[in-house]
Amino acid sequence: MAFSKGLYSLLVASVLAATVHAGLVQRASDPCAAIAGQKWVAPSDVRACFNSIPVDASTKANILEVVSKTLAFHTSVNFQIQAPFPFSEDVHENLFSDFSRISRQRYSSDFELHVDMSRTLKRLNDGHCVYINQCYDSLFLTFLPTPLVLLTDSSGVQNVHIAPEAFSVASAEFADEIDFWQNALPGSLKGQLSSLAGAKVLRINGADPFVAVNANAAITGSFQSFGTRQNSFFASYNRGTSGWSYIMGNFAQMSLPLTDSATLTIQRVGSNKVETITLPYRSRIGATAVPWTDKASFLANNCVATPGTNGVDAYASSTKRDDGGPTPEVAPVGAFQQQPSITPRDRRLHALNVLLDTAPQLDITLPPGLTPPNPVSGSNGVSQFFMLDDGKTGVLALGSFSAGSFDQLEASMLNGLLTLKNSGATQLIVDVTGNGGGFICLAHWLHRIIAGPKGTTEPQAGLNTIARAGPLAKLITEAIINQNADPDDFLLYNPINWAAPNGTQFTSSHNWLEPSVKKIINRKLDMFSPTMSDICQPFDMTAPSEPLFDTTKVAILLFGIYLT
Ligand SMILES: *[C@@H]1O[C@H](CO)[C@@H](O)[C@H](O)[C@H]1NC(C)=O
Repeated sequence: MAFSKGLYSLLVASVLAATVHAGLVQRASDPCAAIAGQKWVAPSDVRACFNSIPVDASTKANILEVVSKTLAFHTSVNFQIQAPFPFSEDVHENLFSDFSRISRQRYSSDFELHVDMSRTLKRLNDGHCVYINQCYDSLFLTFLPTPLVLLTDSSGVQNVHIAPEAFSVASAEFADEIDFWQNALPGSLKGQLSSLAGAKVLRINGADPFVAVNANAAITGSFQSFGTRQNSFFASYNRGTSGWSYIMGNFAQMSLPLTDSATLTIQRVGSNKVETITLPYRSRIGATAVPWTDKASFLANNCVATPGTNGVDAYASSTKRDDGGPTPEVAPVGAFQQQPSITPRDRRLHALNVLLDTAPQLDITLPPGLTPPNPVSGSNGVSQFFMLDDGKTGVLALGSFSAGSFDQLEASMLNGLLTLKNSGATQLIVDVTGNGGGFICLAHWLHRIIAGPKGTTEPQAGLNTIARAGPLAKLITEAIINQNADPDDFLLYNPINWAAPNGTQFTSSHNWLEPSVKKIINRKLDMFSPTMSDICQPFDMTAPSEPLFDTTKVAILLFGIYLT
């Protein structure tokens, strides 16, 4: 490209003029410099920074190559093309064709590419599979001070409300930003944010609230069932290792800065007046962000692959493990795992199944008035037990199947249930609200001690299962068996992690993927192992010889949905 000399001089002149107004112009020219070092910013300013990063063709190709290669490990791809009943409406995502579409598609920015990749993976509605780019996901968390809940009125009708506890939660968690929202309220409501608490929400952005609830359900990922994804819009709670935490819900907390404001048509408590307010979202810098001063340092500090981005070589490290053998530092399950942190020893010794998310778990404290009082003996960390006033209903609030110590959680489950039973409980509510999974064998343990010894719990309390036996799985398993490729048993492909349906553990030389079974899933050829089970049993604690509860009197509570 050639400029005429005249035009060139003009450009130089305007650059000089810009330099004179350095502050303003620097913002306009480097939107990442404009938000550098700030704790709270407008979502649009975060987007301006993100959108200023162009697509780099080789990075894009690399992302697609790496993600495509992981599909050989991801067991559900062919099922997810069109899931069987009852999830046929919920899961119908063809990753193969979507990745080839993304490969061809042009994007105006790297961020736009990220949103497409992220949503594509989220449409699997599979919480064990998430696509996280640390350059964007939760680099800022974007908030409103008005989490929403569903409340049922005296006539049994359920409505959307601003959470009654919204102001106490927001003013504690966002003490340094609450004035921004106070000042953003219109007219006589200015400074009266607390008066919105409990208000009935008649419309969100001019439409029935469930239009917004369902739009969020379409992109939230995580759960196959539609009802659970609808619930993720609303505020909730979770029992953590050392206390109860408040979950804002997807309306009031977002991992990407995609929304600037929400307009709510509300009726405040004790008022017949219908009022409409528009509240701006605000983006708060996230815990994983590495500080930057301009676009170049933003990219260098937050957006470049580092050792470990695409996995680690578990055998490359010389660090020692606590039971004597050589082992590396054990990496967390994922960047934003929805579970308490666990010891490297338990991480290594016990198989885990945990939800991953594009947002970290926050430690917003549940207001004291919402915290259930008087846990009974046996309660420990994430497992808390309560007796209801009726004297016959016990509650196990189980915030996670992981804990700092596997053995402690195992003992707590038994001790707490025994306390409830010995205090006269004949029925049980297991509340797994906000529970992101954890140790598979502790789920089996809980099932076994509640249901007692019977055909479905002995010799193993897991359901019999099959594993996908694709070409890569077979190669890895053969290398383990024939070349001792996994002497420290890091891999779930190692035969010693599995058992025959009768509970007999496979030997280290048993090729548990063979003879594999061919199946056609959604017109694609897939290969599966013979039927197998896990190796949780015998448990390392003695399970009671009788059931602790009649399983027809056990209800599982998840985000307000009752299943029996
Ligand atoms: C359990 O099943 C395996 C594989 O079918 C078999 O070899 C073994 O003999 C069985 N063990 C018992 C105790 O029945």
